[in-house]
Amino acid sequence: MDEQRRRVRGLFDALAETYDQVGVEFFAPIAEGLVSALAPQPGEHALDLGCGRGAALLPIARAVGPTGRALGGDLSPHMVAQCRQLAAAEGLDQVEVRELDAQEPVLPDDGHPADLDLISSSLVVFFLPDPLAALGRWLPLLRPGGRVGISTFAGQDPAWAHVEEVFRPYLTAEMLDARTSGRAGPFASDDGVEELLQRAGYTDVRTTHLHLGVHFTDPEHWYRFSMSVGQRAFWAAVPEGERPAIKDEAQRRLADLAADDGSLHFAQDVRYTLGFRHG
Ligand SMILES: C[S@@+](CC[C@H](N)C(=O)[O-])C[C@H]1O[C@@H](n2cnc3c(N)ncnc32)[C@H](O)[C@@H]1O
Repeated sequence: MDEQRRRVRGLFDALAETYDQVGVEFFAPIAEGLVSALAPQPGEHALDLGCGRGAALLPIARAVGPTGRALGGDLSPHMVAQCRQLAAAEGLDQVEVRELDAQEPVLPDDGHPADLDLISSSLVVFFLPDPLAALGRWLPLLRPGGRVGISTFAGQDPAWAHVEEVFRPYLTAEMLDARTSGRAGPFASDDGVEELLQRAGYTDVRTTHLHLGVHFTDPEHWYRFSMSVGQRAFWAAVPEGERPAIKDEAQRRLADLAADDGSLHFAQDVRYTLGFRHG
């Protein structure tokens, strides 16, 4: 495994327990938007790559029902364990979760190659070393006419971006890209992501958006959120001795944006890109 994937796996292993557990509606509504765009049907076979704790996988499993199949794969063993536990607690026997590399997924050989109805991947592709090659490898796993759907971050609220600027002196270009602030590369625009899918061989590629309101009760809540998501890597990039000052500066910027009751409200634009395997 290359250095990038080792770093990402370590990051999400460390996050798995608190990820999406700090009282901010973020990953679930984003994943649910993707699932509703993909519209899984009873009996269908689905694969969710980079499934995390199951924000997309579990709604997909409910939709395909007991006659369907929902396979989730993630690079992080801790995420896999959390996701398995959640699926089992809900009695979703149609779910299987395993360690899987979305860059080059190798599916369990059950004698049905290329039979997937859909592949989903929510907030994952920008972590991959080569998104174009990965999307190309997913294509033959779909049956002809099958569909793929990915979510990525589109434009960010300028106010929120101003707060996150505190990290900038410490981050490499590669790290900024991973957070996909939409500044560069294929994830900077709808056209860029559509082109990725088209070049990977998908047809009838299209984009929709979700404008998500993101709420924090106070600046400390924002801090807990930032430590529970990929942004934790940003904090880790700040030398320990400088972290208190950076946190103070971020919270000073947040305080400027707070409502009278101290709460904070941002917008996150999310992009859903769908494509099909030629039927
Ligand atoms: C931002 S989280 C999204 C998780 C989930 N899809 C959700 O919407 O909550 C990114 C996930 O992608 C996983 N990931 C990153 N690189 C991966 C790879 N090469 N193969 C499989 N999973 C990967 C991480 O471990 C993490 O669980």
